[in-house]
Amino acid sequence: MKEALERIEAQAKTLLEQAQDTKALEELRLRFLGKKGELTAILKQMGKLSAEERPVIGQLANKVRADIEEAIASRAQNLKTELAQKRLAEEKLDVTLPGTHKKLGHAHPLSIVMREVEEIFLGMGFDIASGPEVEYDYYNFEALNLPKNHPARDTQDTFYITENILLRTQTSSVQVHVMENQKPPIRIISPGRVYRSDAVDATHSPLFHQIEGLVVDKGITMSDLVGTLDLLMKRLYGDDCKIRLRPHHFPFTEPSAEVDVMCFNCGGAGCRMCKGEGYIELLGAGMVHPKVLAGCGIDPEVYSGFAFGLGLERIAMRRFDIHDMRLLYENDLRFLEQF
Ligand code: PHE
Repeated sequence: MKEALERIEAQAKTLLEQAQDTKALEELRLRFLGKKGELTAILKQMGKLSAEERPVIGQLANKVRADIEEAIASRAQNLKTELAQKRLAEEKLDVTLPGTHKKLGHAHPLSIVMREVEEIFLGMGFDIASGPEVEYDYYNFEALNLPKNHPARDTQDTFYITENILLRTQTSSVQVHVMENQKPPIRIISPGRVYRSDAVDATHSPLFHQIEGLVVDKGITMSDLVGTLDLLMKRLYGDDCKIRLRPHHFPFTEPSAEVDVMCFNCGGAGCRMCKGEGYIELLGAGMVHPKVLAGCGIDPEVYSGFAFGLGLERIAMRRFDIHDMRLLYENDLRFLEQF
């Protein structure tokens, strides 16, 4: 029995030295010292011993138990230090390393121009409104004096979800939402995406951006419109920038105009860039049609207003001298990093 006890102690010590974590230590403790452990198993046989042997073996057994307990405790302590040292080594920090750089992006040219235009209008006391891109036919056409079968719908063919729901072709739809929900004085701009079933080329895309403007109050005239747009263009393109209005037709404004801005290349003299015109077309505008006002519950005898719709891509292209609209959507970093 003495040998058995000594064998247990030796074996326990060897195994303890090999234990790599506290879980392994606990397993060994149970295996040797637990209620069903090897040491206990031996002690259970003590009854078979003679009266002389019993105290001797008893004492030895107690010593073996104490030794193993001590070995477990000391191994646990060692494991703790080993672990701490290992962690320290792993967490060692070389403060002289160059570090990893987060590359900071910047706004897309369209966003840059959009924010600039917003800033300019906020400075003039306008609010920013928004409306849905998936729109009812009513808001995109009908309420803007473009009834079904109106020929002017042809130039704005779009993508239909149902016969009455479509992707909006113009931010002018927001005019109607705003006038339905708000009484004059109204002074808003509304930037956003619009859609038309156009084929892609250097100046067309089925998705592009407009910024709508709407002012409704008592005594608003065409000269308010001209003054506002003149200021906008001077702020965008410099104080010597001139605008030009040409008569045009939009069903929802009367009178209507197309607004051109002086060619930045030739200063109005006429060159290849502006096809000899001296001016470049930038937006549509006009005085809000009395029918549109009335349809939104605003009395055209009391109130008048102007509206305009800017093509954001055109402004950005002119601003940054970009000649192909497709560049704006291709996400080519060689292009985008220039702004
Ligand atoms: N919505 C018109 C277009 O997309 C532009 C416009 C807006 C014209 C407001 C007049 C008034 O062509």
